[in-house]
Amino acid sequence: MERIGVLFVCLGNICRSPLAEGAFRHLVDSKNLTEKFLIDSAATSSWHLGSPPDSRGQQAAWNRGFDIGHQRARKLSVQDFHDFHYILAMDHTNLSHLNSMNPGAGAKVDLILSFSDSGLIEVPDPYYGDVEDFEQVLDLVSSAAEGLLKEIERDHFDT
Ligand code: 4NP
Repeated sequence: MERIGVLFVCLGNICRSPLAEGAFRHLVDSKNLTEKFLIDSAATSSWHLGSPPDSRGQQAAWNRGFDIGHQRARKLSVQDFHDFHYILAMDHTNLSHLNSMNPGAGAKVDLILSFSDSGLIEVPDPYYGDVEDFEQVLDLVSSAAEGLLKEIERDHFDT
């Protein structure tokens, strides 16, 4: 069966989307669904290309028992709309960027927090914050990861 592609997108691909990628992968791994997914993250800007996730985010992930240190920032491309089934933006600015690039290939493009009932619509940018702000990002994207996986299981898997 074709893998389900899930791509998380933010401005720099060093703070929010690496945590979303890591949280979703951690969840998928814990349910032994690793082989069913292609999971990645990307930036709308070119500012930090090739950089690892912010060390505060790496610490927040470690605190929850998973490692995101292998990730490297990359730029979003039009090909991503063909390669991924779900492309999830952290905020409205990222979503507008996605909508302006979308070739109409069929990827579902949305805000990540549409899959969470946190009450927030956007994942706050923690770049100028401290490790607690990264922990809050992790709470939000982890809750959304659960909702997203439930939708994917309902729509794509027989379970
Ligand atoms: P991200 O956070 O989009 O969640 O990776 C940011 C990273 C870098 C910058 C802003 C936000 N920056 O201004 O360089």
